[in-house]
Amino acid sequence: MLKLLTVWIDVLTLFPSMFMSPLQESILKRAQQCGHLTLLLHQIRDYTFDRHQMTDDLPYGGGRGMVMKPEPIFRAVHAISGTDASIPIVLLSPQGRTFTQQMAMTMAQQPRIIFICGHYEGVDERVRQCLVTDEISIGDYVLTGGELAAMVVIDAIARFIPGVLAPGAAFDDSYASGLLEGSQYTRPPVYAGIEVPAVLRSGHHAVIAHWKHQAALQKTYMRRPDLLENLDLDREDLAFIKELQQLQRNPGEPNEE
Ligand code: ADE
Repeated sequence: MLKLLTVWIDVLTLFPSMFMSPLQESILKRAQQCGHLTLLLHQIRDYTFDRHQMTDDLPYGGGRGMVMKPEPIFRAVHAISGTDASIPIVLLSPQGRTFTQQMAMTMAQQPRIIFICGHYEGVDERVRQCLVTDEISIGDYVLTGGELAAMVVIDAIARFIPGVLAPGAAFDDSYASGLLEGSQYTRPPVYAGIEVPAVLRSGHHAVIAHWKHQAALQKTYMRRPDLLENLDLDREDLAFIKELQQLQRNPGEPNEE
């Protein structure tokens, strides 16, 4: 019998209810029901000992806003991970390294991950220095907290857990192959005056796969040419890109499509 691969994710947050609806719908809901993904939400406030259950305090040296206190976060992580020092502890913050599809793929191979959602003006630096094994940002913008970022990361990871999507599906998508996914069509064959390319209706699987690959190359060339620089393109791909470049220089020439 095949062993069920499951990723267990603990999330430390001041706002667990933010996670309820997004993680309880559609594919993520099914992933949890089928045992591929286990998600546990932990209220950081539950790990305070003071009467006011304070999780933040004024920053030393002055400055705007509040900083998340280290003690409740340390206590929560120790309570969750016990003596297991192998569990990755990931802080979501705008100062982290930028999250990529490759990172999602790698993280999906971990049996367990702990996410810490920062809030306010950030977390005490000692959390970073003594607890955190990785710090991730989902992009060059600042959110009100790490919760939405954690949900984005969890969603991207879940797609790579075996059994969550149809076999191979996550690897066909934009970025997994290094290319953006080309255009997709469904019925009807003609809509808004635009016809679905005949090749897609031809039933010739090899021809369709070739067309889709070139459509992906074309979209990547037009929108994210930087991605092509990191790829091992074969001679046919390079020739196709050359054609696209020529077409760009002489737009009057007929396009294959
Ligand atoms: N918290 C605030 N902004 C963030 C970002 N861009 N990525 C991850 N966590 C964040």
